[in-house]
Formats: sequence, C-alpha cells, structure tokens
Amino acid sequence: MRHLVEENRLHVRDLVLPVFVNSGNNIQKKISSMPGVSQWSVDASLKFVESAYKKGIRTFILFGVVDEKDKDSKGSAAWSATGPVPRALELYKKHFPESLLMADACFCEYTDHGHCGETADTSTKALDWHRDIGATLKNIAKAALVYAEAGADIIAPSAAMDGMVGAIREALDASKFSDRAICSYAVKYASAFYGPFRDAAGSAPLPGTDRRNYQMQPSNRREALREALLDVNEGADMLLVKPGLPYLDILREVRNTVEIPVGAYQVSGEYAMIKAAAANGWLSEDAVFAESLLGLKRAGATFIISYWAERAAELIQEGRI
Ligand code: PBG
Repeated sequence: MRHLVEENRLHVRDLVLPVFVNSGNNIQKKISSMPGVSQWSVDASLKFVESAYKKGIRTFILFGVVDEKDKDSKGSAAWSATGPVPRALELYKKHFPESLLMADACFCEYTDHGHCGETADTSTKALDWHRDIGATLKNIAKAALVYAEAGADIIAPSAAMDGMVGAIREALDASKFSDRAICSYAVKYASAFYGPFRDAAGSAPLPGTDRRNYQMQPSNRREALREALLDVNEGADMLLVKPGLPYLDILREVRNTVEIPVGAYQVSGEYAMIKAAAANGWLSEDAVFAESLLGLKRAGATFIISYWAERAAELIQEGRI
C-alpha cells in the first residue's frame, strides 16, 4: 500500500550518467576521491556506457579531459573536432542511436589556468580571476557547434557565465542545428562540493584562485531566481540546479518559478561523502543514495545527474527504490 500511494517515484529515464573521456587509448583510470568512478579513453568508455544503457539509462553527459600539453590560456582544445568529447559523441551515436547525449560545454578542463573561460589577465598571481567575457562567449559558440556536429542532442554550458546561453542559441540557429537543446547550469553555486570532480576532470583552478566571480554565493536565494530567469530569456530549454542536496530549497523554488524542466546535479562531493561513509560501515550505501535521489525528485527535479545512476537503475529495476 505504501507504494500504491507514494507521491514521488524515480524512473530510470530520470537519470543522467556522467562520463569522463580522455584523449588516450585503452585507458581506465580510477578516480581515488570518487570510488567506482573512472576516467576512460573514448574506446574503453564504450563498455561503461553499454553497461548502463542495458540497464535502461539513455542519457549521458560527457566531460572531456585533455593532457596538460594540450591546454592553453583560451582552452582551445574545447573546440577541437578531434577532441575526446566529439569522438565519444560520434561513437555513442553510432552504437546507441536511441541514446540522448549531453555535451558539457566548459573550458576549465582545457585551460592552463583551470578557469572556465578565456582570461583577460594572465597573471598567475591574480586572486580575483578576470574573465574576458567577449572572447569566452565566442569560444563557447565554437565549442557548441563542434559538439552539435558530432551528434550532441543537448549542449550544457557549465561555466555559469551570463550570455552563454544566448551565444550558443544564436550559433546553433545560424547553422543547421536549431533542433538541438540547451541545458544551462543556470543556478550553480561556488561550492566546495566540486572537489572530487576537479580530480576526475583535471580542472582545478590555479592555486590561490577560485570561481567566485562567476559562480553564486551559497547564502543567496533570490539571486538563483534571477539567474534562472536570465537563462530562460536567453533561450535555455532546461535548467540545472547544482549542487543537489544542500540546495533543495533552491531547487523547489526554481521549479516553481520557471516553466521549463529543471534538473538537479548530485555532485561529486555528495557522491564521495556517501561512498566514504558506506565504506566505513557508517551508512548503508543503497538506502542513503536512494533517499537522496528521492529527495531531489520530491524537491522538484525533472531529471537528476548522478554518478550513482547505474546502481540506481538496478535498484529501480528490482523495485527497491
Ligand atoms: C565545470 C563543472 C564542474 C562540475 C561540472 N562542470 C566543476 C566546477 O565548477 O569546478 C562539477 C560537478 C561535480 O562536482 O560533480 N565545468
């Protein structure tokens, strides 16, 4: 009876699985701060994606990782047509035509300073990193076109800089890609929960600098609504709120404010905390992840990006979530 009258339910199609792809061959590199998560070369990633696909997961979000030698101050490897993300997009579309592919579009994995755009100040000592927003918007449009050409269904700009959604929409519509969607990381807090991701993607900002001049202040609530509405007006098709669990109030409020779908991102630090506690026998992994994902759903998430998506799909199949 509890199941019959349950108000919220997780479905396997709610889940989005992140995939880290690098530019090597035949590589699986385990991420020590995210047990169970790996960085893959494009060829080796196929079996990881296939395994999740067989369990019903259809949506994947791709993050590219490149060698240090391929990084520069603009992050130009982000728009290389032979980079790991375009190659992975082509490969997955060929093998899994029914998949829905999101390309995370950002620069921190590709810049030598580790910031999410081109810098106007190359001083490595700059505490307050200065964006060259005009150049960054041109660059993000170039990257979006490369991902669209390679088969991305959804472009997901994650730098949280104003103007990105508009720049991408304009570029897609001016090419043959007006059918591609934009999922904006509109409400992205300057969070300490992203630490393990930066190990996985090799994208930490220069020591002594942080992302506070483009990511939001954790104490702000009304600003989240403003950010969400700005991106709706620029043409976003769906939004993300990030991180997840510490921001459930924001998720609910954004969901109540905009009419487009709102996804939640259960970020790397949330994943690592549960994994670490479970490894110590302090928490039950399955039960705590299931409760966390349901919490995001209850708070209004239309879909959820989670590193735990594959295990969640198994539990859903077994009727245990
Ligand atoms: C940035 C990006 C980040 C995440 C996704 N895209 C990290 C950041 O802003 O430093 C974090 C995801 C996570 O922690 O799981 N391009």
